[in-house]
Amino acid sequence: MAPFAHVIGWGMAVPERVMTNDDLAKIVDTNDEWIVSRSGIHSRHIAAENESTAILATRAAAQALAMTTVEPADLDLIIVSTSSPEHIFPATACLVQDALGAARAGAFDLSAACTGFIFAVNMAAQAIRTGSIRTALVIGAETLSRLVNWEDRSTCVLFGDGAGAFVMQASDRPGGVLSCVMRSDGSGASLLSIPAGGSRMPTTAETVQRKLHTIQMNGREVFRFATRVMASATKEAAVKAGLRLEDIELVVPHQANLRIIETAARALKLPMDRFVVNIANYGNTSTASIPIAICEATADGRIRPGDHLIMVGFGAGLTWGALALQWVSPERRPTPARRGRRRFLTFLAHVRSFFRRFWWRIEGLLWGAEPRGRT
Ligand code: ACO
Repeated sequence: MAPFAHVIGWGMAVPERVMTNDDLAKIVDTNDEWIVSRSGIHSRHIAAENESTAILATRAAAQALAMTTVEPADLDLIIVSTSSPEHIFPATACLVQDALGAARAGAFDLSAACTGFIFAVNMAAQAIRTGSIRTALVIGAETLSRLVNWEDRSTCVLFGDGAGAFVMQASDRPGGVLSCVMRSDGSGASLLSIPAGGSRMPTTAETVQRKLHTIQMNGREVFRFATRVMASATKEAAVKAGLRLEDIELVVPHQANLRIIETAARALKLPMDRFVVNIANYGNTSTASIPIAICEATADGRIRPGDHLIMVGFGAGLTWGALALQWVSPERRPTPARRGRRRFLTFLAHVRSFFRRFWWRIEGLLWGAEPRGRT
């Protein structure tokens, strides 16, 4: 029988710096009352200069791994879902792989905006269920504060930075990922985009001057789209998993706007206490919002082993999707001795990375700029 794909560890990381609505009102023409009433956001975390997507992703991943007996070297696959990668390439996932010392893992980024974490969890689950891999690390990480136009009050008040991670593993125990709905509609691409910096519109002085390298959004249209798809995707994922909505203990929605979540709850005829909502403290952390919400809900005891959850999200692309899963407890918690060993392995990963970087340089000096084998 095909193995089940379980989430056995979870972790989150947010920057220390908190920016309140009042702080924002000092930068742009806005106020706390407008932001709270239109979005439900009170504050968000903003990355410091020396913090980046890979750093937050690695921190969340380390926390998720620390819950388990999985060592970085056991990881077969690392997927980082992000819309604010460190670079166009290399993939942020490769930087995380190096930082963790996950020497055997394939690593790649997945770009599906705020829906990305759902798609990434499903990709990892499918790879586990087919038997092609055993253990995966799935991360949603963003530093969208680097990509917003801090002069545009209609977008800069909405977003925040953060990361969340799942360790997923094959198991014979029933449960884990039960179903997934993945959808997209590229005809809505222009409703939410960063127009410049890619091959269509390479960065120039003009694109920078026109702020085309920052998030451009038609908020009202995105709002309408989101309220249409959140409820339908949730229902579809439940049906595919053979569950009734009453069987779902908690819905974990993408935290983009409290009003979108409330509209989805009304459409599903579910009370708001069946939804995990933490947008007030984080704003929209895009693909990181669902795993961050899950980390908080488990810490608060709202998610318990055996619970049926639906994660549902939408975002640029346009993309949307929902994933049903049955939560399990981690199979084995690490012993203190194992945690000590983990710290040592993390140190070794840094040493290994340092020497490999050093070796690339030596090789370059020995063989010149031309790759070996070239005539
Ligand atoms: N402070 C004060 N006033 C503001 C602000 C602000 N920060 N921003 C806009 N306004 C003004 C507007 O200028 C407008 O004024 P006008 O009527 O004089 O023109 C007025 O407030 C109303 O603006 P609307 O855009 O109609 O406000 P709305 O109620 O639609 O709320 C919002 C705007 C919060 C952006 C909402 O449309 C929304 O949440 N949309 C969905 C956005 C979303 O979820 N995006 C993330 C997708 S996920 C991803 O992939 C990254």
